Parts: sequence; structure tokens; C-alpha cells
Amino acid sequence: MRTVHVPLGNRSYDIKIAPGLIDRFGRECARVKLGARCAIITDTNVGKRYAKAVFNSLATAGFSPVLVIVQPGEAAKSLKTVQACYDQLALHRLERRSFIVALGGGVVGDMAGFLAATYLRGIAFVQVPTTLLAQVDSSVGGKVGVNLKAGKNLVGAFYQPKLVLCDLETLKTLPDREFRAGLAEVIKYGIIYDARLFAQIEHDLPKLLRRDPKTLAVNIARCCEIKAEVVGKDETDGGPRAILNFGHTIGHAIENISGYGKFLHGEAISIGQVAAAKLSHAVLGLPEHDVARIENIFRRVGLPVQTGLNSSKRQKLFHAMRLDKKVSGGEIKFVLAEKIGKVVWNQRVPEGQIHQILDS
Ligand SMILES: NC(=O)c1ccc[n+]([C@@H]2O[C@H](COP(=O)([O-])OP(=O)(O)OC[C@H]3O[C@@H](n4cnc5c(N)ncnc54)[C@H](O)[C@@H]3O)[C@@H](O)[C@H]2O)c1
Ligand SMILES: [Zn+2]
Repeated sequence: MRTVHVPLGNRSYDIKIAPGLIDRFGRECARVKLGARCAIITDTNVGKRYAKAVFNSLATAGFSPVLVIVQPGEAAKSLKTVQACYDQLALHRLERRSFIVALGGGVVGDMAGFLAATYLRGIAFVQVPTTLLAQVDSSVGGKVGVNLKAGKNLVGAFYQPKLVLCDLETLKTLPDREFRAGLAEVIKYGIIYDARLFAQIEHDLPKLLRRDPKTLAVNIARCCEIKAEVVGKDETDGGPRAILNFGHTIGHAIENISGYGKFLHGEAISIGQVAAAKLSHAVLGLPEHDVARIENIFRRVGLPVQTGLNSSKRQKLFHAMRLDKKVSGGEIKFVLAEKIGKVVWNQRVPEGQIHQILDS
């Protein structure tokens, strides 16, 4: 088993990564100070596969779990679902010392984390991420929240889990498209922080695509280490945490204008990262060879690398980028790469240059 420590003072916690962790879930929870009563929050897709094992493991270890199941998909990240879950928690008499288990992808993690942050002014929670994206990204770092009609993640909190358990076995049942989309975040860590990781992914890609557990363990652990290090320096955003948004300025705008659902997040940021690499070449002199390596790795994963937008969609894209949370004073700012493994944030880029890149 690999363990990554997230160093945040009295809010520190461990991320454990191994196949078969769900079967020892109860024992792992018993090592952390938690009350007996707990609610497993999951969606129907994940619940039908893994809820029973999590439930039994908790019960065997002396906990007293209840199960709360929500619908799958982004729509569950809403105040309506949170409200329904609050009612369930109250009905089952969860109290201050009780805890929540978020079993699922980023949607369940964000929503159940927000539930934990706010129910009784905050109770403990444990993350059991079951998508690749959730294992390397959303379960680490403490951002929890839900969407409003006006936009994604507009209501939320910074609230750290007590423990994160990544059971690599769960990735076996993840749909192929979701798995490939998750790899876009894995590759991102190489580009923003670790040239060796990037080269390792280039080398390991066939094994990663076969979901080889050993290869997954090494790469997922490294991604979690990087996220933990970045978050450890800047827990609540505003500084170096911005580097995690490489490829996301254009990526978020693509998700936004194409109506959430057409592109998965990982697909949109694949396009966004390739565009950001080309911008990095134009603005910071990122070597052409590195741009080609970046584009090539996303192509090999089978992810899209171009927008192919007509002019009216292009206008909408710029409008969406200007509305993004990361924009201040109307100026679009980017995370750009100096070389693979080293990025800088807060880079202003003239709109003309962005147009040129999207034309290329
Ligand atoms: N908090 C953060 O820091 C952070 C970071 C990145 C993304 N996010 C959020 O994460 C969400 C996306 O998360 P996601 O990509 O994990 O999507 P998701 O949670 O919607 O899961 C994708 C699909 O896979 C299914 N699924 C999950 N695990 C499975 C498994 N092991 N086997 C079979 N099916 C499985 C789900 O039911 C769902 O249908 C977005 O809402 C995004 O805003 C949050
Ligand atoms: Zn992302």
C-alpha cells in the first residue's frame, strides 16, 4: 500500500492507495478517531457495485452505517440533493461525532463533502473515490460544493476529509471514456510539476490504458503527492494552487459553451492543455518539441486536442472565458509552461494571440 500524507496542521490526513482497500475499509476507519454512526453516500452506479462491501466492512469493524443513495451525474451536485440528504441524516439520527463516507466519483465527493461541512456545522468525512479523476484530483485538497443554475461550484467550502482511500480495484469497472478523461488530469501533473512523471506516463501509457494495478498505483500516488504539496502551500487558493488550473481556462469555457455533458471535464481540459501548450510556445518560448510531446500524449490517450469552433461558437468561448472565476478586471489569465515540469501562473495573454492559437 502507498500512503501520501497531506500536511495541513491539525487538518492533516493520509491518502491510502492500494487494490482491495474497500474490504478493509472498516479497519482503516477505526484507526482514525471517528464516532460509531456513519452514513455512506453514494450514487446508483457505484452503490450497486461497492456499497455492500463498504457497509459490511464498516459493520464488521463495529461501526453502525446507514446507506444514502443519490442519482448519478452532475445534476446530483445540487442543493436539492443536499437537502434530501440532510433529511436522511436527521432521520437516521447522525450526531456531531458521526461521520460521512463519500463513495463515488467527484460528484458524490463534492456533494457529500459539502453535506459533511454543513450538517450540524460540520461532521467528519472520509473519501472513497472510485473514478480516476476523483482519486488524483477531486478527493484531495478539501474543495467541496455544489452547483447553482448560474454556474458550477458556486456554493461550497474548504473542508478536509479525515482520510482518503483509493481502492484501485474500483477502477476496473469505470467506463472507458471516464478512465481516459481521468488520464488528462494525470498528464497535467507531469506538465505542471514533474518532467519525470511526464516521461514515465509516456513510457507507461500502454500499461496505464490496460489499468495495470502496479502502474496505476505508482502514477496515482505521484499525482496525489503533487496535489498534496501544492495544496499544502496554498490551502485556500489565491497563490500557487493556481497551477492546478493548467489547461482549465479554455477547458472550462469549452464545457460551458458546449452545454455541460457534451465533453467530459477531462476531454475539455485535454483541448485546453494543448492550447495552453501552444500559447506557452508563443508567449514563453516553450520548445516546439515539448508542445509536440504534450499534443502527442493526449492523442495517444484518445482524447480530443482541437476545438474546431465556428466563429459564433468562438465568440461564445471568449465570452465564457471572460466570465470565468479566474478572470479579474476583465483580463483573461493563463497558467503557462516554461518547460515540461515547470509552469507559471497569472500570465496575461492578449486575445489576438489566443485567436491565433485556436486557428492553428
Ligand atoms: N473538489 C475538487 O477539487 C474537484 C476537482 C476536480 C473535479 N471536481 C468535480 O468532480 C466532478 C466530476 O467527477 P467525476 O469525473 O469523478 O464524475 P462522476 O462523479 O460523475 O462519475 C462519473 C460516472 O462514473 C460512474 N462511476 C464512478 N465510479 C465508478 C466505478 N468505479 N465503476 C463504474 N462507474 C463508476 C458515476 O456513477 C458517474 O456516472 C465534477 O462535478 C467536478 O466539478 C472537483
Ligand atoms: Zn480539472
